[in-house]
Amino acid sequence: MSTLSVDVTQNGSISNVDSSCSMAEIEEYDFSRLPDRPKNLNMERQRSFDERSLIDMPLGLSPHLSSRAENPSRVIDQFDSIFTPGRMSGGFNTPRSQFGFEPHPMISEAWDSLRRTLVYFRGQPVGTIAALDSSEEKLNYDQVFVRDFVPSALAFLMNGEPEIVKNFILKTLRLQSWEKKIDRFQLGEGVMPASFKVLHDPVRNTETLMADFGESAIGRVAPVDSGFWWIFLLRAYTKSTGDSSLAEMPECQKGMRLILSLCLSEGFDTFPTLLCADGCCMIDRRMGVYGYPIEIQALFFLALRCALTLLKQDAEGKEFVDRIVKRLHALSYHMRSYFWLDLKQLNDIYRYKTEEYSHTAVNKFNVIPDSLPEWVFDFMPTHGGYFIGNVGPSKMDFRWFCLGNCIAILASLATPEQSTAIMDLIESRWEELVGEMPLKVCYPAIESHEWRIVTGCDPKNTRWSYHNGGSWPVLLWLLTAACIKTGRPQIARRAIELAETRLSKDSWPEYYDGKVGRYIGKQARKFQTWSIAGYLVAKMMLEDPSHLGMVALEEDKQMRPAMKRSASF
Ligand code: GLC
Repeated sequence: MSTLSVDVTQNGSISNVDSSCSMAEIEEYDFSRLPDRPKNLNMERQRSFDERSLIDMPLGLSPHLSSRAENPSRVIDQFDSIFTPGRMSGGFNTPRSQFGFEPHPMISEAWDSLRRTLVYFRGQPVGTIAALDSSEEKLNYDQVFVRDFVPSALAFLMNGEPEIVKNFILKTLRLQSWEKKIDRFQLGEGVMPASFKVLHDPVRNTETLMADFGESAIGRVAPVDSGFWWIFLLRAYTKSTGDSSLAEMPECQKGMRLILSLCLSEGFDTFPTLLCADGCCMIDRRMGVYGYPIEIQALFFLALRCALTLLKQDAEGKEFVDRIVKRLHALSYHMRSYFWLDLKQLNDIYRYKTEEYSHTAVNKFNVIPDSLPEWVFDFMPTHGGYFIGNVGPSKMDFRWFCLGNCIAILASLATPEQSTAIMDLIESRWEELVGEMPLKVCYPAIESHEWRIVTGCDPKNTRWSYHNGGSWPVLLWLLTAACIKTGRPQIARRAIELAETRLSKDSWPEYYDGKVGRYIGKQARKFQTWSIAGYLVAKMMLEDPSHLGMVALEEDKQMRPAMKRSASF
């Protein structure tokens, strides 16, 4: 690995970049003018609402959650009334159950394991490494991945430890400002790294951060999701601590605008969705997710809504707010209309005519009914539905993707009816989607000839393994949040109980293989940090559903489309 030599000028800008390298390195930037502690950090627990309303009732029905903020820039952020500032139950170590009964023994073990993954930079915790498994080749699992840090960050926020999240946000923000090059090609200014690591130089006794923007990653994949997760974390931090000074910093405002500029720019697009290359998200290998993958569209929507709550209404901010509002309207209409699949929609597609020209076309994308896969007819329950994997010209990827659907619920990209339908589908297809270990990253697996064509014969992504129909425990936190938001926590409880039978015994694998997730994944890392943190976050949210406010946004009724009647509603 060659190193990039960069000079950082006094104001933090970069000069003199020598680029024939695979990674960027950075000396620390002086954020000393920032207050060490959040100004309004209120560590008192506030339980001003009846928690049962969240557990027992879908959000749309909860009287506590329907109040509308006055400030137009915050109209879309409706969870203020249930916001609970971070807590410190059990101090900074293992939290104890607030109800007095003994927590599951796995919880304290999980906290210990999570703390072992902490990465320090010049004495401060700045993230958690992806996996602490010395038995396998490290590759880049010894790095802090932006997406992997999300559940860790939430666990720390929920436990009243916001400092590490703040440090992470600031450090990755500095990495964003680097000039990023792959060979001779320069990446967009706003790109956030996929991952970073701390380099120790024992001779000079210095520490340096090195980031990977995809230029070292296997397959040179672009981390499109990193910027979205970053904005999401900034809101989660702000929500959890009540401290808006971090988000209000000019550097953070600029970082957000740079991320947004990348995806709000106008061009040749005919759809409001974001066009991506394969491997641009959690599924970071070739898996046929190029085009308009649901994971990115849902995260894009989530990030836009989070940004609306964080952007200042100054001249620059205002311009972005206007663009975001327009995009959100178009995006929600597009997703709710064309990505949504239920029994009625499936039947309509099955009967589609093709080669329709003009504005009156019903089959707008010219999808050929013969391209409908056999499995989808059996998979579709009478009640239920989901956002399909991808929609483009003559293309519908009917696979179910967990992350995109859960995020769609949390961001209220899904209408309340669609959210209910997604949960109905999960319940009716429990064996397929949860099986023996929650949760399928996608369903079903692709095999044989299709696997050859779609993955390029990827031996890591053989059928029912890894990204190709593997089961990923990290997804538990997303399922749990979606369950709480739709008033169905019992579904999450069932899934968590399943995970508790094996996760710790199996040393917290990264993923499981097999049709029902019975086998520890072929190449799965053990002590995978987000498997550990995902479990903790799921447990903490079930115990205190007010944490949901950190990760979810209530429906914005102005974005309701004129939906066709559908079988799932
Ligand atoms: C794998 C996963 C990716 C994750 C990384 C680190 O590459 O596909 O989503 O970020 O491992 O855990």
